[in-house]
Amino acid sequence: MPERTIGIALLGGGVVGSGVVKILTEQRDLLRRRTGIHFDVRHVVVRDLAKPRDFPAGLRVSTDANAAIDDPTVDIIVEVVGGTTHAAHYVERALKSGKPVVTANKSLLAARGTELFSLAKKHNTCVAFEASCGGGIPIIASLQHGLIANRIDALVGIVNGTCNFILTKMTQNGWSYADALKAAQDAGFAEADPTMDVSGRDTAQKLAVLASLAFNARVSEADIHIEGIDTLQADDIAYAKELGYVIKLLAIAERKSAHGAAGSGQGGGSDRKNSFDTGAPSSAGHQTILGDAISLRVHPTLVHSTDVLADVSGSFNAISVFGHALGHALFYGRGAGSLPTASAIVSDIVNVGLGVTPLAFKQLAILPDATSPARVLPFNELLSRYYLRLMARDEPGVLAQVTKILGDNKISLRAILQHEVNDSQLVPVIITTHLAREGAIQTSLKEINALPTIQAPTACLRIIDQPKEFAAG
Ligand SMILES: NC(=O)c1ccc[n+]([C@@H]2O[C@H](COP(=O)([O-])OP(=O)(O)OC[C@H]3O[C@@H](n4cnc5c(N)ncnc54)[C@H](OP(=O)(O)O)[C@@H]3O)[C@@H](O)[C@H]2O)c1
Repeated sequence: MPERTIGIALLGGGVVGSGVVKILTEQRDLLRRRTGIHFDVRHVVVRDLAKPRDFPAGLRVSTDANAAIDDPTVDIIVEVVGGTTHAAHYVERALKSGKPVVTANKSLLAARGTELFSLAKKHNTCVAFEASCGGGIPIIASLQHGLIANRIDALVGIVNGTCNFILTKMTQNGWSYADALKAAQDAGFAEADPTMDVSGRDTAQKLAVLASLAFNARVSEADIHIEGIDTLQADDIAYAKELGYVIKLLAIAERKSAHGAAGSGQGGGSDRKNSFDTGAPSSAGHQTILGDAISLRVHPTLVHSTDVLADVSGSFNAISVFGHALGHALFYGRGAGSLPTASAIVSDIVNVGLGVTPLAFKQLAILPDATSPARVLPFNELLSRYYLRLMARDEPGVLAQVTKILGDNKISLRAILQHEVNDSQLVPVIITTHLAREGAIQTSLKEINALPTIQAPTACLRIIDQPKEFAAG
C-alpha cells in the first residue's frame, strides 16, 4: 500500500493533548503498518510556553494557533483546548479553510454543534468528536455506524467519572458528600471548582450529544431536566442500599411513544409499563422516529443492585443502549484521563485520514444539522417509580395523612420502611411508589411538606427499573 503523510496541528497540550502526542509518537509504526499513513504532529499550541512538558525533542510548540491552523502542511486540526470561546474561534477558522477538525469538547458541541456541523458541510469538510462523550469508549462510532440498523429506544449512561467516584465512595465507605468530594479532588478526579460535574451539567452536555445521535433529533442542554449530586444525603444512599438499590447519576434519554406518554400509570398501573418496557410496539403501533417524544433527564437515580450499571464503580463510565434489533448493549470503560481520551482522538484522526469520517459526515443524515429539533416530553409527564424520605414527628396519624395525600394524587405505594428511633428524634419514613407521574409527585410533595408533622423537605429520587429482558424470571 502506498504510504502518505498527514500533518496534524494539535491545539492544546494539556491532559488530553499530551496523551495524543504520546500515542502518535510511541505507536507511530503500529499506526503506519495498520493504515499506510504516517501521522506527523507539526504543531502543538499551548497558552504558556514556560510550563514544563514531557514532549519529545524537536516538537514545534508555540502559542500561535492561527499560524498552526493556516500552515499548508497541516491537514487535520485537533482541538483539545476546551471551553467555548477560543476553541470556537479555532474550530471555525479551521472549518472555513476546509480542514477537518477532531475535538473532545462536549461543551462546544452542546452549545454550537449544529452550527459547526453545517459550517463544516458548507466547506466540504468534517468534524469528528468521539472523545467528547465517554472518554475512550467508542460510543459515538457505535451510534453512527455499529447500531445504524437499530431504532434506539433508550440510552442510559454513567458519563461523569467524578460524580461516579464520589457516589462510589459514599456508597462503599458510608462517607458524606463533602468527604467524598474532597477524596475525588485529592485523587485528581475532581477540579478545584467541581460545579460543572456535580451539578449534572457536564453529564447533560454529553447526553445532548449522545441523544442527538441516538434519536436523530436535535437535542440541546436546555432540553434536559438536570439535577446534580451536590444535595444528595448519605442517609438516602444507606436507605437505598437497604432496599436493594445503589444511587447513580444517570443520563437518561428514552423514546416515549404518544401512547406511552399519555398512557396509564396514574396510580397502581402495572410497573411492566415502565421506562424500559421497550419490547413490543405500543398499541398505537410504532410511530415515526420524529413522531415520538423523548424523555431527557439527568438526576441521581436508584438503580437495582442487580442492574449492570450498579457495578460501574469509581471513575469508570458505562452507557447502556437499547436497540430494537440488538436489544441491550453495554459500553463500558474509562470515561476520562490522558491516554483513554487520546485513544478516542487518535481513532478520529485515523478515520479522518482514511476518508471514512469525511464520507460518513457528508452522507449520513443523523447529525443535528440535518435533523429536526427533538420533541421533548415535558418533565411533569414523566412516568417513573419514586423513592421518598419524609422526616416526620413521631405522632399518631402521620402516615395516614401522607398516604391519603398520595392516594388522592393517584399514587400507589410499593414499600414503606421505618426504623425505631428515640422518642425525641424525628422519624425518617421511606416510601417507594409504583409508577406515577412526576407532576402528581410534585403536587403531593407540596402538600406533604406543608403538614405540621413534617419537619424537613421530603427527599425525592427517581427509581429506574431494569430492562425487561434482564428482569428476574
Ligand atoms: N481531561 C480529560 O480526561 C478529558 C476527557 C474527555 C474530554 N476532555 C475534553 O478535552 C478538552 C481538553 O481537556 P484537558 O483536560 O486536556 O484540558 P487541559 O489539561 O486544561 O489542557 C488544555 C490545553 O489547552 C491549552 N490552552 C488553553 N487555552 C488556550 C488558548 N486560548 N490557546 C491555545 N492553547 C490554549 C492549555 O495550555 P497550557 O498548557 O499552556 O495551559 C493546555 O495545554 C476539553 O474540551 C475537555 O472537556 C477532557
